[in-house]
Amino acid sequence: MSTQSLAIEAAPRTNLEPFQTRRTFAIISHPDAGKTTLTERLLAAAGAIQSAGMVRGKAGARSTRSDWMEMEQQRGISITSSVMTFEFDGLTLNLLDTPGHSDFSEDTYRTLTAVDAAIMVIDAAKGIESQTLKLFEVCRLRDIPIITFINKVDREGLSPLELIDEIQGKLALDLTPVLWPIGQGVDFGGYIDLVEKRVLNPQGKILAEYEALEDLLEVEELIDNPVFMSALETLEMAQAMLPGFDLKTFHEGHLSPVLFGSALKGVSVAELLRTLGDWGPEPRPQPALPAPIPPSDKKVSGFVFKVQANMDANHRDRIAFVRLCSGKFERGMRLKNVRSGKDMAVSNPMFFFGSNRELAEEAVAGDIVGIPNHGTLSVGDTLTEGANINVTGIPNFAPEIIRRVRLTDAMKTKQMSKALNDLAEEGVTQVFRRMMGADWIVGVVGQLQLEVLSARVAKEYGVPITFESLGFEVARWVECEDAEELKRFIAAQKTNMVEDRNGAPVFLAQNAWWADRAKQDWPKIDFLTTKERH
Ligand code: G4P
Repeated sequence: MSTQSLAIEAAPRTNLEPFQTRRTFAIISHPDAGKTTLTERLLAAAGAIQSAGMVRGKAGARSTRSDWMEMEQQRGISITSSVMTFEFDGLTLNLLDTPGHSDFSEDTYRTLTAVDAAIMVIDAAKGIESQTLKLFEVCRLRDIPIITFINKVDREGLSPLELIDEIQGKLALDLTPVLWPIGQGVDFGGYIDLVEKRVLNPQGKILAEYEALEDLLEVEELIDNPVFMSALETLEMAQAMLPGFDLKTFHEGHLSPVLFGSALKGVSVAELLRTLGDWGPEPRPQPALPAPIPPSDKKVSGFVFKVQANMDANHRDRIAFVRLCSGKFERGMRLKNVRSGKDMAVSNPMFFFGSNRELAEEAVAGDIVGIPNHGTLSVGDTLTEGANINVTGIPNFAPEIIRRVRLTDAMKTKQMSKALNDLAEEGVTQVFRRMMGADWIVGVVGQLQLEVLSARVAKEYGVPITFESLGFEVARWVECEDAEELKRFIAAQKTNMVEDRNGAPVFLAQNAWWADRAKQDWPKIDFLTTKERH
């Protein structure tokens, strides 16, 4: 029997720079896979909340989730991402919440630009589902290291080998087991912890310890149990098939440690925290121009990955969520917004725990601080102590839903244009203008984003709007090294062309077939699905 080495020692936790104690991560999953349950369990296991059950949006008054929008409350979902910061084992963990509903917004994607790692939760009965796949692809764009948590092993589901096969096949991602389940569903009898080299029952009681897996063949209580023997056999097959753990490959985003567990029963949750703490990456260098920003850089830098207005209905405030990339930020510091060139004194920065906030006196790379402002900060902005650095990789995504905005009250054109511009700056929607004609066109990534848009334009600007289809389903930014060729394309496609807020040309197509056709007809033109926000 082969026993692959998992004995990767965690980096020693002495003489660390403060930023090296940060773990900034998100949980990605398809709705119902168990993300909320797991979040509660992680927070409870780290001692950050008294009991599981406090995070759930559905719980009402005691909810720790942001519940600032009526729509969220009505639907019992969290539309916008929030942040939960908590301590564990000498580390500061920043969990960025990505919405768990069945729809997407660009917020979800952009939140992933602010994390260093992700936990991918998969329902053992369902395997890889559509939204896990979408979110995974965004992580892959940035090579974000992923820890895989296969949830609900207390229920019948696909076998561990089937699941591993499916994940490897659909995601083209190498996996290596860290916790292996002993049976599933009614047979579920505990798990083998390949790191600590021990066998535990579902309650976490140690049943046996080993040096090499073969040693377990001498433990009578275990070998008498056919479920255990079968688990050992499949583990051996998995190990023969899969690579061993390698910290560097994990940090490069090419190898994912896999844990089987049950969020509901609290099984494997402590080990998941351990995996994140011991192996999870510290803040990574941030892609930027003219050069990436190392987290050890002494000067403060950060970028806005999300702006949220009206978190507190009584204050009508607007908060920019900033991910710090380097330096030691202190309250009261003056920072420059590189886009506008303007300095601002950051006197009321905040840390978050769900909807609770407190003043942030100090923060380092990896931390998320909220900066209240009145529209001076937009998604994608870089803040520095003066240096002209621009963080890159904060994308707009090609909208999947494209609509003309209809104003029901023609007297309110001015308010509507302000509303759409403000909300586009916040990243709630993208706004396009026709190259011919004066239509206002909005583009969003998911249906819910459209609903949020009309609800907010009505509530915050007093302008009722409706949307109508233009017959376009696909949008692509178009670029070409040959400027004349681009001009020819735009002239030929006049009726299908719009401009984004920065004046960049965007080609609209009726459907994927027409988009492909245009690509074939115009081979020199690049059709882009993402575009940097600058
Ligand atoms: P989400 O945030 O990913 O959408 O999922 P959520 O945690 O809300 O979990 C979805 C459902 O799956 C919930 O049941 C939850 O109790 C259940 N669940 C989560 N983890 C496990 C697990 O490890 N084992 C089992 N058996 N079930 C699990 P529900 O009935 O839809 O909601 P509720 O009425 O229990 O709140």
